[in-house]
Amino acid sequence: MSPVSIPVIMDCDPGHDDAIALVLAHARPEIEIRGVCTTAGNQTIEKTTLNARKIMSFLGNDVPVARGCAKPLFRELITAASVHGESGLDGPALPEPQWPESNLSAYELMVKVLEKSDRPVTMVPTGALTNLALLLLTRPDLKAKIGRISLMGGAAVGGNWTPAAEFNILVDPEAAQIVFSSGLPITMSGLDVTHKAIVTAEDIESFRSIGKRTAVMVAELLDFFKKFHEEYFAGFGGSPLHDPCAVAWLAAPEIFISRKARVDVECAGTYTTGSTVVSFARGVSHGGAEGRIPPDEANVDVLFDVDREAFVALLRNALEVLD
Ligand code: RIB
Ligand code: CA
Repeated sequence: MSPVSIPVIMDCDPGHDDAIALVLAHARPEIEIRGVCTTAGNQTIEKTTLNARKIMSFLGNDVPVARGCAKPLFRELITAASVHGESGLDGPALPEPQWPESNLSAYELMVKVLEKSDRPVTMVPTGALTNLALLLLTRPDLKAKIGRISLMGGAAVGGNWTPAAEFNILVDPEAAQIVFSSGLPITMSGLDVTHKAIVTAEDIESFRSIGKRTAVMVAELLDFFKKFHEEYFAGFGGSPLHDPCAVAWLAAPEIFISRKARVDVECAGTYTTGSTVVSFARGVSHGGAEGRIPPDEANVDVLFDVDREAFVALLRNALEVLD
């Protein structure tokens, strides 16, 4: 790894877009995956953990994969088989993992990696925030070893699982509030940006035409992933690649546009539970009223736009370098 590599812990619920986020993180020279943790969400913890192990094994990366929370802090689990299928990663026939699941829990792996790291670690949650919330509650001393959280979740406007809530936040709103209110610097890849990170049918064919095994596998993941979006998001012209945004920002922040804000999570709304309430920093407005909070309370960089061509090129370049 290059001396300036960014050590990261992935915390995911594979899930097609999580899987592609793992591929991108693995491929990038400036990113060093120190651990992969799993959470329930797109599917049960059993399935997301097996899927994460299959992807890391497919990549030939023997970094530990550790099982996380099987359910949210206070609520019953919701899953997304309609999007990701019964396995959570329907589509390509992936070989069984070469390596066993870590004997550590996700919490234990996070603690071990953070305690051992010689420099701040970036947490990259792309599922529910239960594991990270538990870490922050149990070991607040380790906040000093977390340089940044680059997460996929939430939205300044709208939702995708309800009109007001994005799936990852809705799965565990209380955990999300714990993370957003931690005071740690956060980059939030919410639906505002991920709905612009669109991969088209032509992009999928350009990935497949690379002809290498990982490129073909990713194209097959996208072949399945696009079915849901063709049916329910026809106007998008393709599939929103949510989770890879959280990794792409680490590799190429210049292709994104962000605004500083404080983010709170609605945990008690009849219709709005899981909604991320984005309060812009004073002096930074969203096309109208001035923000209301002092800049030093604005710990979240909310991503609002991305250069789609550059984003797709980042993915394509990753698939060209992998076998
Ligand atoms: O709302 C999209 C998010 O929910 C993505 O992380 C997807 O993988 C699911 O977890
Ligand atoms: Ca996910």
